[in-house]
Amino acid sequence: MNRIITIASQKGGVGKTTTALNLGYSMGRFGGRTLVVDLDPQNGMAIASNLRNYTRLGLVDYMKRRSVAEEILAEARDGSMTALGMGDVAPEDIRQLEAAAWDGSLVAALRELGKGYHHVLIDAPAGIGGLVNAALRASDGVVLVASCCPIVLQSMPAFLKLVQHIAAGENPALVLDGILLSMVDRSIPAQERVYGELVAQVPEGALFRSVIPFDAKFQAACLEAVPAVLLPGGEELARIFLDITVELRERELARARSVMASDGPPRLF
Ligand SMILES: Nc1ncnc2c1ncn2[C@@H]1O[C@H](COP(=O)(O)OP(=O)(O)OP(=O)(O)O)[C@@H](O)[C@H]1O
Ligand SMILES: [Mg+2]
Repeated sequence: MNRIITIASQKGGVGKTTTALNLGYSMGRFGGRTLVVDLDPQNGMAIASNLRNYTRLGLVDYMKRRSVAEEILAEARDGSMTALGMGDVAPEDIRQLEAAAWDGSLVAALRELGKGYHHVLIDAPAGIGGLVNAALRASDGVVLVASCCPIVLQSMPAFLKLVQHIAAGENPALVLDGILLSMVDRSIPAQERVYGELVAQVPEGALFRSVIPFDAKFQAACLEAVPAVLLPGGEELARIFLDITVELRERELARARSVMASDGPPRLF
């Protein structure tokens, strides 16, 4: 199996990078070979994982043919996962990166670099711009991260429309793996209200059963530059990301089963 999954959201700061890093770590430890790609020029994942102190080379160097795959793919020292940073994006690189996002070369690069991994998680920048479009065109699935704040109710339909648009055209393989709620704090009444409205708004079964709670350990983990699940006291968070890993796999297998069921009677030739 080789699946590329984009971790995305229209709204910024909802926990995409946190999800990509912690879920990638969990999938790598308990699933199969996992690559986490930082597709954000902010370098959020590379900073949050300490990758930037290991190498500043990344996707942008590969796209410019300054580096080959072996130079930019960095395996974690505990063997859990491999990480790929964006690299240093100079102001003059932005236009080239945007062009690569639209002309298909970024899609081809992501697919090429993702070969040999069971799962590739792409940490997308916020929004629905070129880089996000390219990530979705390169992907088999998308996990939409959402926080329980009112603006999400407004922005989510536009993002789901983009996913549908790409799946109906350029990338028929693309599916919505699910909507993952993050920064959840059930003690806040407004969150409960938004949650209720979200459930009514999104397609049935789209929400992951597991949610990522609001937890100050995620911010502490950014300072330590490790996945939060590795911090002292991070066992409960590790269990939650393992639950999400299991749920994602269940969803993949359920889809495979329904495809088999619609294949009709078996035929070898
Ligand atoms: N569940 C959580 N509980 C508490 N803080 C969190 C949680 N998830 C993320 N954070 C913190 O919120 C901030 C934003 O998180 P993160 O960078 O993961 O969001 P993002 O969606 O990737 O943002 P951007 O859109 O800028 O890429 C970070 O400081 C992070 O440590
Ligand atoms: Mg981010």
